[in-house]
Amino acid sequence: MRPARRRSHGLAALALLCACSADEVVTARADGAIEAMIRSAGGAAPELPVVGPHLNWSPFLCMMPPAARALHSTVEAEDGHGSKIYALRSNQGEAYMKLGTEEEVELPLFTVLVKEAFAPVLHAGENAPSPHSTPGWELAASQGYIPFAERDGLTYRTGAPRGLFVMLRLPEGTPDTMDGWAFGTVDAAGRVTGAGAMESCIRCHRTAEYSGLFGWREE
Ligand code: HEC
Repeated sequence: MRPARRRSHGLAALALLCACSADEVVTARADGAIEAMIRSAGGAAPELPVVGPHLNWSPFLCMMPPAARALHSTVEAEDGHGSKIYALRSNQGEAYMKLGTEEEVELPLFTVLVKEAFAPVLHAGENAPSPHSTPGWELAASQGYIPFAERDGLTYRTGAPRGLFVMLRLPEGTPDTMDGWAFGTVDAAGRVTGAGAMESCIRCHRTAEYSGLFGWREE
């Protein structure tokens, strides 16, 4: 804690600088800051590594980057991120994968978690096609995941992008966050459609087991 006298000195100087009262300086909020952070997290999403267990590649493919399977969201609700296929991206994938294990983990400040959502499109045939027999697999593999997900014996592939669901770790007590977690949504065109303590996210995530996070789910 800094001595009160020094602090009020500093504030007085600031108040003079911006020609407003010290009270205004103290209570000024960083309006728009979280939105800007969500926008840049969304912009950076393609460069964030995909989180997930590595697949066992055939020797032919073992030179490819590790890939994670596109997962079906287990959330059924239409207004959440149900009924989409997503790839999860993060700058802290390794730590994230330890949630729920014996190791105690705390995700560091500025952890970014991005669910990259796609419409599921039914893929002809009962089984997921072998990725290297599928047109476009090289592209998909270079993006870091296999673009197929199974459900109830049917195989789906990733269709049109459905936007990004972002969580960003900020210091606990940051205004407009849930205990430090800022939420955000970015539409397929890159526009931020929500940022901050979004009630539409918090109503579920406040119940999540690992301080706001659900952790990795294998389907
Ligand atoms: C209906 C409940 C529900 C709502 C509403 C919801 N989520 Fe989730 N979220 C989940 C569940 C459950 C998971 C775990 C993965 C899965 O099953 O899809 C999850 C996982 C996530 C993850 C991966 C990190 C983690 O928790 O493990 C992110 C990021 C995320 N959600 C963002 C959002 C954002 C942003 C919103 C609001 C726009 C939102 N969620 C709204 C239930 C919900």
